[in-house]
Amino acid sequence: MNYAIKMLHNLLLLLLVPPFCHYHLSVQGSNQHERKPYIVYMGKVPMAETYAVENHHHSLLEAAIEDKQLARESKIHSYGKSFNGFVARLLPHEAERLQEEDSVISVFPNTYRQLHTTRSWDFLGMPLNLKRNSNVESNIIVGVLDTGIWVDCPSFNDKGYGPPPRRWKGKCQTGANFTACNKKVIGAKYFNLEDSNTGSDNMSPADDIGHGTHTASTAAGAAVKGASVYGIGKGTARGGVPSARIAMYKVCWSSGCSDMDMLAGFDEAIADGVNFLSVSIGGPSRDFLTDPIAIGSFHAMARGILTSCSAGNSGPRPMTVENVAPWILTVAASAVDRQFTTLVAFADGNNITGLSINTFAPKRKMYPLTTGLLAANDSRNVYGSASGCDYGTLSQDLVKGRIVYCVGGTGTQDLTIKELGGAGAIIGVDDKIDASYTTVIPGAFVEASSVGNTIEHYINSTKNPRAVIHKTTTKQIPAPFLASFSSRGPQTITPDILKPDLVAPGVDILAAYSKLATLTGYHEDNRYDVFNIISGTSMACPHATASAAYVKSFHPDWSPAAIKSALMTTATPIKVSDNFTELGSGSGQIDPVKALHPGLVYDIRINSYIAFLCKAGFNATNIGILIGRKNFNCSRIKPSPGTDGINYPSMHIQLFSASQRISAVFHRTVTNVGSTNSTYKAKVTVSRAFSVKVIPDKLHFTQLHQKLSFKVVLKGPPMSEEKFVESAALEWNDSKHTVRSPILVFKQPMD
Ligand SMILES: *[C@@H]1O[C@H](CO)[C@@H](O)[C@H](O)[C@H]1NC(C)=O
Ligand SMILES: *[C@@H]1O[C@H](CO)[C@@H](O)[C@H](O)[C@H]1NC(C)=O
Ligand SMILES: *[C@@H]1O[C@H](CO)[C@@H](O)[C@H](O)[C@H]1NC(C)=O
Ligand SMILES: *[C@@H]1O[C@H](CO)[C@@H](O)[C@H](O)[C@H]1NC(C)=O
Ligand SMILES: *[C@@H]1O[C@H](CO)[C@@H](O)[C@H](O)[C@H]1NC(C)=O
Ligand SMILES: *[C@@H]1O[C@H](CO)[C@@H](O)[C@H](O)[C@H]1NC(C)=O
Ligand SMILES: *[C@@H]1O[C@H](CO)[C@@H](O)[C@H](O)[C@H]1NC(C)=O
Ligand SMILES: *[C@@H]1O[C@H](CO)[C@@H](O)[C@H](O)[C@H]1NC(C)=O
Ligand SMILES: *[C@@H]1O[C@H](CO)[C@@H](O)[C@H](O)[C@H]1NC(C)=O
Repeated sequence: MNYAIKMLHNLLLLLLVPPFCHYHLSVQGSNQHERKPYIVYMGKVPMAETYAVENHHHSLLEAAIEDKQLARESKIHSYGKSFNGFVARLLPHEAERLQEEDSVISVFPNTYRQLHTTRSWDFLGMPLNLKRNSNVESNIIVGVLDTGIWVDCPSFNDKGYGPPPRRWKGKCQTGANFTACNKKVIGAKYFNLEDSNTGSDNMSPADDIGHGTHTASTAAGAAVKGASVYGIGKGTARGGVPSARIAMYKVCWSSGCSDMDMLAGFDEAIADGVNFLSVSIGGPSRDFLTDPIAIGSFHAMARGILTSCSAGNSGPRPMTVENVAPWILTVAASAVDRQFTTLVAFADGNNITGLSINTFAPKRKMYPLTTGLLAANDSRNVYGSASGCDYGTLSQDLVKGRIVYCVGGTGTQDLTIKELGGAGAIIGVDDKIDASYTTVIPGAFVEASSVGNTIEHYINSTKNPRAVIHKTTTKQIPAPFLASFSSRGPQTITPDILKPDLVAPGVDILAAYSKLATLTGYHEDNRYDVFNIISGTSMACPHATASAAYVKSFHPDWSPAAIKSALMTTATPIKVSDNFTELGSGSGQIDPVKALHPGLVYDIRINSYIAFLCKAGFNATNIGILIGRKNFNCSRIKPSPGTDGINYPSMHIQLFSASQRISAVFHRTVTNVGSTNSTYKAKVTVSRAFSVKVIPDKLHFTQLHQKLSFKVVLKGPPMSEEKFVESAALEWNDSKHTVRSPILVFKQPMD
């Protein structure tokens, strides 16, 4: 398993349920007679006044189950505020029967998705004194689907905020450890449809995990001076749109985030009147019509709400990107210029630096140093690696009072060594490290093959090796760069759309945290704080959400796609550092201030998404139900031209054989949002692998909001054998604005 993921597992403890990948109705459970929750998704709520949502659901259930009593008992929940559908306990054959109903788009078993676990805003060019449209901004409501919220954090102090915007229809549910919302956090609800989350979780919007508090404050937290984690990372912590309001929808619990709870969150958030949705949750990509995040965000888009999602933490492996629907803003994670380093000094005067968040100042000058291998319990009866300090493999006598160097292992080394009374842990990892994780005892992470070797060598060649781990400090580094854990494309659902869309800070982000969770998430930890430093595409997503809200505060009439286009075409390309950088960074690092003046936007309205779904081969009957149009027939709408069939701000094709020539045509239409009278010229940068022609290569606008079309023609021989990515870029330039689109050709590896 990838190091970063492993660490995320630790941070989030039991939160990460193994992905359950069986979506087909025939492969459910070993016990065929046990009813399991299924989601029956039915698209748009019919407009007819006589339509009664619940009655319809009951009659469908009665027909499928053939027993009135059982049908009534089996229903768990009806959606119907923002889209139509319900959840019920079903047997596989009943689910199949429902699938055949005309009014049903899809039936899928409930699965669990996972969380994708201040300085960052300065780094993005948004200083504290930035020009803002605060009156408009304070009317923006950012909806967050996450683990809940801890309102008592200073980041959610509502001093100076007026009453909630008048259109707000949301509520504040109270309960255990959650007494009230305020004028900053104006709404909070929790969703526990299966009633299965009753263990240690609070039945209220209270955040037991810390993740939701962190993401919500990154998006819209108020500015807090002197924020730090035990003195580390001191500065002003704040959200990207500090005047905006927050509405929390708690859909994630210790057991994970279930499809049905997430859909319930979307159903209510859209109806409540949020302007943006921030969803730092993911799971294996699947067909949009059985993917709760794709479904929820589609209905959000139809109501003018942009949904931002995290791209996933499964990088640097390719084909790992999640949340790939074209109406979603898919966000990868980058590092900012501040790194958290931990100095380890040795008795011989040498020292090394590792990465970690170590809040502990040493109590003694030096501690004896050993390795997991040297501290192994030779009479153990547990399988595992002692050099990796796996649980049960070490001898307490040889660990107590010592700092232990572990290499390999499962990622819980610091906890194991704490339990044995050790003084510290230095953890060697095989992968590249670029994020700092909090340790439960004094600790540091190092790259095993380089720094780790130095440590081993010192131990091997010294009679009484000794070391001390210092408290973490910060250091300036060149940035941004793509985090190694950030998931990479290409995607497999709609291969011609480049995902992720862009990159935002997601490494070592300091933001608000819940007092109900310890800093590491371990019960064995006793450190609670209202701030914490966490990494993941989960942290990148709310940066993008806030950037979008910032753009909207200056351009309230822009569509979700126009805002997304502005953020993408003004992004700064990420420096290519490995073979997969381009597949993981989309248009590049987000630049919210530049995005206020994009010059041109690539807009996409709902009809264009429909045409795209038709072209991508989605079932026309289902598309009809999705948008609430009876007898919808794809052949009756204007077919969307070109290779990808959508007015996307980036351009992408995949080749599926070694002999396939590079050939594609992208049809695009741009809307002038810059100067009344302006002429844009096309500039193409491309390697020698293929040619790019832009027709026409000059666009002359004489009015604002005027639309002009062009096409981009790619031509070239098959890609050379050793290459799998070729890239180019198109820039429209009117001397005031640069409107950039990456062009990426990916060749599937052949075997
Ligand atoms: C949460 O609620 C429990 C039970 O009422 C209480 O003991 C505890 O102190 C509360 N936690 C915090 C951080 O307020
Ligand atoms: C670390 O070691 C270098 C030389 O190897 C030395 O110059 C420096 O002072 C040391 N730093 C500390 C904090 O001991
Ligand atoms: C070593 O392992 C054995 C078997 O698991 C256990 O009984 C014993 O207590 C361990 N010894 C030490 C010193 O931890
Ligand atoms: C240190 O000693 C161990 C055990 O003998 C050996 O496996 C390891 O390769 C040595 N490491 C170095 C860097 O010398
Ligand atoms: C990039 O890919 C090439 C060809 O597959 C390979 O030789 C090279 O080592 C890769 N480079 C990196 C940095 O992964
Ligand atoms: C769409 O699905 C429905 C029901 O599954 C099926 O009857 C219909 O033939 C499909 N339509 C198309 C155009 O494939
Ligand atoms: C859709 O329209 C085409 C052309 O008008 C027709 O041939 C086809 O049968 C229609 N399909 C459905 C499912 O009505
Ligand atoms: C518009 O721009 C063209 C050249 O780009 C210029 O000739 C013309 O005078 C401009 N018109 C106005 C009204 O500014
Ligand atoms: C855009 O055009 C202006 C003037 O025509 C030029 O100075 C600038 O360098 C161009 N920008 C890019 C990125 O080509």
